[in-house]
Amino acid sequence: MRNFTIDKAKESIDKVVTIDGWLYNMRSSGKILFMIVRDGTGFIQCIIMKNQIGEDRFAELKHLTQESSLSVTGSIREDKRSPWGYEMDVQNVNVHHEIKEEYPIQLKEHGVGFLSQYRHLWIRTPSQRAVLKIRAEVIQGTRDFLNENGFVNFDSPILTGSAPEGTTSLFELDYFDEKAYLSQSGQLYQEAGAMAFGRVYCLGPTFRAEKSKTRRHLTEFWMVEPEMAYCDIKESLQIQEGMVSYLINRILTNCDSELKVLKRDTSKLEKIKAPFPRVTYKEILELLNKNDREKKWGDDITGLDETIISENFEQPVFITHFPSDSKPFYMKTTPTDSSTVLGADLMAPEGYGEIIGGSQREDDLETILSKIEKAGLNPEAYQWYIDIRRFGSVPHCGYGMGIERFTAWMCGTDHIRETIPFPRTIERIYP
Ligand code: 4AD
Ligand code: MG
Repeated sequence: MRNFTIDKAKESIDKVVTIDGWLYNMRSSGKILFMIVRDGTGFIQCIIMKNQIGEDRFAELKHLTQESSLSVTGSIREDKRSPWGYEMDVQNVNVHHEIKEEYPIQLKEHGVGFLSQYRHLWIRTPSQRAVLKIRAEVIQGTRDFLNENGFVNFDSPILTGSAPEGTTSLFELDYFDEKAYLSQSGQLYQEAGAMAFGRVYCLGPTFRAEKSKTRRHLTEFWMVEPEMAYCDIKESLQIQEGMVSYLINRILTNCDSELKVLKRDTSKLEKIKAPFPRVTYKEILELLNKNDREKKWGDDITGLDETIISENFEQPVFITHFPSDSKPFYMKTTPTDSSTVLGADLMAPEGYGEIIGGSQREDDLETILSKIEKAGLNPEAYQWYIDIRRFGSVPHCGYGMGIERFTAWMCGTDHIRETIPFPRTIERIYP
């Protein structure tokens, strides 16, 4: 059992405590060993004096290598010069596992390919720990925001028979002689939930067999998907910008030390203030074409476009009124313009791209039937979904925010593979 953790150092000054951890780094200067010990909650420098611990013990400890597991007992003291803030004067060291072979990850720079192969060990380093701590805070903050705003957690299934985001990116599997897929999005089930609870959300893994090899795509990623009954697109965007602002504030407040480890320029995050600008797809095409992108009506907004857009705005920006043909069947047609839908994507600044995709949902029975058919989907598999329009249909909206994309933006990491413990991409399913 652990009675003390490094994050409690502040409350333990002058007390004798035991740290149960791992050796992160060590140097010696003749009579003193400077051990940096980590325990998952933080890092601390531990000072071992030869004359205190004894000559033989000193000689044994001197040969310990990185990531040996040990318990170190001593008294805590504040040290303003130390990057960790505190130091321990060691009285005793108990070694649990002394490493006999070379630890694969040295404290020098390694390439990302190498580190990814050792992801199970890479997560022990300060930068990866910081990113994954921020991810955990993003998830907890998202849940807190939604729970405080009347949303009920309502889990969507992972094994499904539907393809909300198009049939080209499905992981198909054999489900007792029937075809099933890994969920691309929990949305359709959230729509059913919204009619039962008013406001619901799911937060969990989703899967896309996308052949995209970009810094923004994973084949398994986590998404939060809130859905609201009696809600139009205008109100939905207000909830989205409220959630994003809340999360930024929360990360800045609760993850200060992690942001420092990552050397994140937080002034850019501090500037983010709702309401965010709303710009139509048509206006975005004009902006892109001014940047020599030669875009036509109906073209997708790709990674490079996202970078241009986010470099043109300091604030996140909602792109609205997408062409109907470029978006999924469930989006509601704009009442005043049948060529566009009431969908909106939120683009993060600093080149982090699309972090939210959302829309008002088609709520008319006849229209949804024809949209399902036009999308080439089998209406039989969607009868339950169509029932939502048959029995007490109301205007409703929802959105999905990618947890890894949002975390990458907060951390300032340029590839989202570092924002999930064990990333899955088209090139990687190990470890
Ligand atoms: O825009 P998307 O595809 O929207 C949906 O899935 C809707 N059904 C959501 C809803 O309305 N309930 O995905 C939503 C978000 C994107 O904005 C992005 O942040 C993230 O999910 N995302 C990915 N993240 C990592 N890797 C991928 N391959 C991603 N695809 C989407
Ligand atoms: Mg999208």
